[in-house]
Amino acid sequence: MGSGRHASLAFDRAAEIYDQTRGFPPGVGEKVAAALLPHLPRPVRVLEVGVGTGRIARLLLNLDVPVVGIDLSRPMMDHLRGAQPEGAAAVRLIQGDARRLPLAAGAVTAVIAVHVFHLVGDAEQAMNDVLRVIASRGVVAVGWNWHPPDSIGRRVRRAWREIVAKHGADMGAPGLREMEAPVTFFRGRARRHSEILACEWHVARSPRQALEDVEKKTFSSSWVVSEAVFPVCLAELHAWAERELPDLDRPRYELRRFVWHIFSQWRA
Ligand SMILES: C[S@@+](CC[C@H](N)C(=O)[O-])C[C@H]1O[C@@H](n2cnc3c(N)ncnc32)[C@H](O)[C@@H]1O
Repeated sequence: MGSGRHASLAFDRAAEIYDQTRGFPPGVGEKVAAALLPHLPRPVRVLEVGVGTGRIARLLLNLDVPVVGIDLSRPMMDHLRGAQPEGAAAVRLIQGDARRLPLAAGAVTAVIAVHVFHLVGDAEQAMNDVLRVIASRGVVAVGWNWHPPDSIGRRVRRAWREIVAKHGADMGAPGLREMEAPVTFFRGRARRHSEILACEWHVARSPRQALEDVEKKTFSSSWVVSEAVFPVCLAELHAWAERELPDLDRPRYELRRFVWHIFSQWRA
């Protein structure tokens, strides 16, 4: 089951639904980009690894921050190309692999990565390559959407991971890994680490919606489960939800945050 430890998950299959399913509510993305701005060393030369549809890069560009974006998925980046205003400064896009960045040593002053390293086969190789391409005074910013530990989405994903593990999934495979590992990696190599709360907002979500996300394979944790056992896992998930999440159709009002982890001052 799954695609192995060394494959990466390109998001071609999610390109059409990505902005609709992962887009920020109005005003949130602007705060996410603005929170990063004071931490970007001058001259600002930013590389975004796993740039996707430019959910973050587009907003940095609006703040006059030039961005080079790299991604395995051309269909994801095509959405970004389509969304850029004509004639204005553009995100420079490169189709490539985070494990072998096509940049010279010390070429950029900041690397940002949002919801990426848990998808990269051999993430450690990719994170080492990030350290190669940043200038000695450069920063690495790793960010993600934070959900409370007891949010409906997290509870459903935890149950899903337990069920698919029982059916033989490799939990080290991209898509099933936890997102915190890069923080441990970069914290071990940087003398400075700050955690920044960029924005908080609320959403209304019902358990039924979270189950539908699994069923429709909205998120990568569904893609890595083979067709042979997917229906079995899904049936077990539904049975779990009937037991554990009363009132499946009642929306819950939940907190969301966007958090940046910013690293700098590299150890020799
Ligand atoms: C969850 S999306 C995040 C996109 C964007 N950073 C955002 O926050 O909206 C992950 C992106 O990483 C890309 N990706 C996965 N493995 C990669 C690799 N080895 N090299 C480059 N990009 C990769 C996927 O194609 C996808 O576009």
